[in-house]
Amino acid sequence: MRIGVLTGGGDCPGLNAVIRGIVRKGVQEYGYEFVGYRDGWRGPLENDTVRLDIPAVRGILPRGGTILGSSRTNPFERADGIHRIRENLADLDVGALVAIGGEDTLGVAARLHDEYGVPVVGVPKTIDNDLSATDYTFGFDTAVNIATEAIDRLHTTAESHMRVLVCEVMGRHAGWIALHSGLAGGANVILIPEQRFDVDQVCAWITSRFRASYAPIVVVAEGAVPRDGEVVLKDESLDSFGHVRLSGVGEWLAKEIEKRTGKEARTTVLGHIQRGGTPSAFDRWLATRFGLHAVTCVHDGDFGVMVALRGTDIVRVPLAEATARLKTVDPALYEEVSVFFG
Ligand code: F6P
Repeated sequence: MRIGVLTGGGDCPGLNAVIRGIVRKGVQEYGYEFVGYRDGWRGPLENDTVRLDIPAVRGILPRGGTILGSSRTNPFERADGIHRIRENLADLDVGALVAIGGEDTLGVAARLHDEYGVPVVGVPKTIDNDLSATDYTFGFDTAVNIATEAIDRLHTTAESHMRVLVCEVMGRHAGWIALHSGLAGGANVILIPEQRFDVDQVCAWITSRFRASYAPIVVVAEGAVPRDGEVVLKDESLDSFGHVRLSGVGEWLAKEIEKRTGKEARTTVLGHIQRGGTPSAFDRWLATRFGLHAVTCVHDGDFGVMVALRGTDIVRVPLAEATARLKTVDPALYEEVSVFFG
């Protein structure tokens, strides 16, 4: 059997570990052949492939990014997209697909399977950790570690100058990175998209922190929005590639803090540093296990499923269920962490 593999959506540390796990187990245990599709769904749409065998995956375990490339191409947005994918799979005699991606990539995989009978297995990935049906996605742990290290560094410079340092982290719809790194880094305020924030309350926490002679660190998720629509921060404008761009909540907040508290404030936007570079040991472990289990699904002829982590077990869940809703931060968990604010 020949299996196609693709990686779609934003890249994420651990993608190469999944690919390696798939190929190593597939070749060694089942004698499968593989075709790597370039740039997510663009690959099977345009029959753009790359060699994917044991030598191709040698040495890639600790490497960030994806050797297959990635894109946000959606075949359902092209008139003949599905027809071309089916034709191209048949052309190369590809009998199954493993799609590694987030909500959008796996949403396409779910529809391809459920509506067109394409044999697909999904592997969840996102640094945001906002996919329901899995306890964790790989990439998240690495992103949290990077953000935590940055916050640790911000503490010392903030204290040397007695400034407020605002650290903007990724998370458009879910505040998992902000919550975990903010807690681990000892932030004094954490703001997430799930809970609208009150700027006066933020300023009150900052002032009380200064009163105790410490410089405050504010961690804000890029998708966090102030209460009462004080400013249109969630202006999700599209860039010339049609990708969503948020409008800099960190910069805006630092200016408001300066205005309202009279304290000097600076912003650091971590951006794609959170997504680049080598995966953490946990992410290599999780990604590898996802890859191994995805091949087992193909071997079992179990399609239309996504591999997922539940506790310490890898399980299979229907793709449609896995992509039905986002996993956001529970208000009770946010409340628990808020004991450290101020
Ligand atoms: O979904 C992963 C993610 O890194 C988000 O946290 C972030 O909002 C988005 O992708 C950034 O996308 P892009 O790389 O297209 O700017």
